[in-house]
Amino acid sequence: MSSMEFNKAVGAVLLVALAVMVFGYIGNGLVKPKSHEAAKVKVAAASSSGKHAAKAAPLQPISPLLASANAANGAVVYKKCAVCHTSAKGDKNKIGPNLWNIVNAPHAGKAGFKYSDGMKKKPGNWNFEGLNEFLLKPKDYVPGTKMAFAGLKKANQRADLILYLTSLSDSPAKLP
Ligand code: HEC
Repeated sequence: MSSMEFNKAVGAVLLVALAVMVFGYIGNGLVKPKSHEAAKVKVAAASSSGKHAAKAAPLQPISPLLASANAANGAVVYKKCAVCHTSAKGDKNKIGPNLWNIVNAPHAGKAGFKYSDGMKKKPGNWNFEGLNEFLLKPKDYVPGTKMAFAGLKKANQRADLILYLTSLSDSPAKLP
């Protein structure tokens, strides 16, 4: 083999190696974004179905949490309510009705308060589970309510608060 032919052969080998590298690189480039997209779609699907599940999940009953709830903590949470509500026996209604004796009282039952139509139409009493649902999201439990309060997301805060509300009575309702 002449040195010229040898160089050609080496050149050919190098060319092939280069070609493999280049095509391999392009190949990766073509394949990667695809699998990346697929992964993204999967993640999006997972997170949206997760959100969906959280929304669709039924509200856990508050009753089991009341046994270990803390009324003193509830009194602290109640400060958010005190902007609009009074809590002592015989206190006047403010922006919202007085909340003395509210547990097991009928919906829209406080004398002298102008309730929304939504609240007036709500049948039944303020039992523990009803209060739980209302305090999570007032507008969902009583459509058209004029109580401008977003709600308390944390179940343990609602339990503490409901226990505190229960204490606002001469003969507090029995815990479920
Ligand atoms: C921005 C003022 C405001 C805040 C804050 C507020 N409320 Fe109210 N609340 C109202 C109004 C107004 C109504 C009457 C709603 C209606 O008629 O639709 C009401 C109604 C209620 C009722 C129904 C009373 C009945 O006689 O049927 C309960 C129970 C209640 N609120 C509890 C609470 C609690 C507990 C908090 C604190 C987490 C709170 N509210 C925070 C304004 C408020």
